[in-house]
Amino acid sequence: MILVTGGSGFIGSNFIRDWLSRHDEPVVNLDKLTYAGNPLNLSEWDQDPRYRFVPGDVTDRHTLTDLLGQTRPRAILHLAAETHVDRSIAQPAPFVFTNVVGTYTVLEAVRHYWSELQHHERKNFRLVHVSTDEVFGSLTPAEAPFTESSPYAPNSPYSASKAGADHLARAYSRTYHVPVVVTHASSNYGPFQFPEKLIPLLVVNALNGRPLPLYGDGQNVRDWLYVEDHCRGLAAALDAGIPGAVYNFGGMSERSNLTVAEKICDLVDARRPRPGEPARRSLIRFVADRPGHDRRYALSCKAAAGDLGWTPTTDFEQGLAATVDWYLDHPDWLADVVSGDYRRWIEAHYPGLALTT
Ligand code: NAD
Ligand code: DAU
Repeated sequence: MILVTGGSGFIGSNFIRDWLSRHDEPVVNLDKLTYAGNPLNLSEWDQDPRYRFVPGDVTDRHTLTDLLGQTRPRAILHLAAETHVDRSIAQPAPFVFTNVVGTYTVLEAVRHYWSELQHHERKNFRLVHVSTDEVFGSLTPAEAPFTESSPYAPNSPYSASKAGADHLARAYSRTYHVPVVVTHASSNYGPFQFPEKLIPLLVVNALNGRPLPLYGDGQNVRDWLYVEDHCRGLAAALDAGIPGAVYNFGGMSERSNLTVAEKICDLVDARRPRPGEPARRSLIRFVADRPGHDRRYALSCKAAAGDLGWTPTTDFEQGLAATVDWYLDHPDWLADVVSGDYRRWIEAHYPGLALTT
């Protein structure tokens, strides 16, 4: 059995779907169901005996200790986090609590659980702590991509909180020999991403003929990674990650935000033409920049290629077209998320949880 934290979010729900499609091994998903957690993302697995959802907060030590004792996982994928940079600028506190204190609490609960395992279980156990390329800071256009040993230089409360969590993960590996693996991924895109993040936000706005806001000059660059490629990398890290190792997962697809916006406009125009109206590129608007906005991210992924045999396989243009098609094919999911109806579903099934942020 494996335990996933934050499995009701974007990457977590893609990971669990992919895992259950390819493995017999059960998964337990511990998730607080914040605004970013949507149990409907995994509704098709609700009746599957290999899947169990447990509502709970990673900052709650008792919940974690009880769950580890009951379920006895052989590995843990720690995804639970606050993840949106703009929210971290507006309100940093939940980022410090969930990302730093939550990761500390997971590490501490795992340290005790792991130390009491039998020898062969201790040897095979892994805790994969999922982090981000943002902890390394910002690159100029001419600089080489970040490596696994690039110095930390976080610029937003989000990336600083992830950096704090990474340092704790490293310390638990060095001091207590807990078999922790740290991964850094670049910007993910794909199905089930909450439409506050750039790609789904632009798809929704383009569909509805609303302005597409680009911060600053639109020339900031992200290295886009299709979520399925990331999930394969995470599964490989759970199976073959070397304790104490750090793996970068990048998409090898650097694109400026303006390029991404233009491609989305063209894809939506082709699929939902608006006869007599201007092309959707005319909806692009340059708006005030994000404070501390990182200019460029890019990752070199040598360790993942060497130890895990991992490279990204999805071509960005194909992945983006598949993503646009997914949003167009799932109007009910989108309407539920945009209207907030999914919170009412949560309140009906887990009274009290929908009130969490
Ligand atoms: P997301 O915001 O879509 O989902 C986060 C999930 O964590 C939600 O289901 C939420 O309910 C849950 N959660 C939040 N606080 C919690 C708490 N205190 N206890 C339990 N559950 C809690 O995030 P995502 O995009 O799926 O990212 C998952 C992880 O991957 C994060 O650690 C993030 O930093 C990392 N990451 C994301 C990206 C990306 O591009 N999305 C890239 C690199 C790394
Ligand atoms: O790089 C990994 C990170 O990618 C993850 O760790 C984060 O959890 C994830 O949210 C993402 O962070 P970004 O800040 O890169 O994602 P976001 O979608 O918020 O923004 C992508 C780029 O688009 C960034 O340069 C800011 C810009 N942007 C974003 C929004 C929401 C706009 O220009 N307009 C917008 O409305």
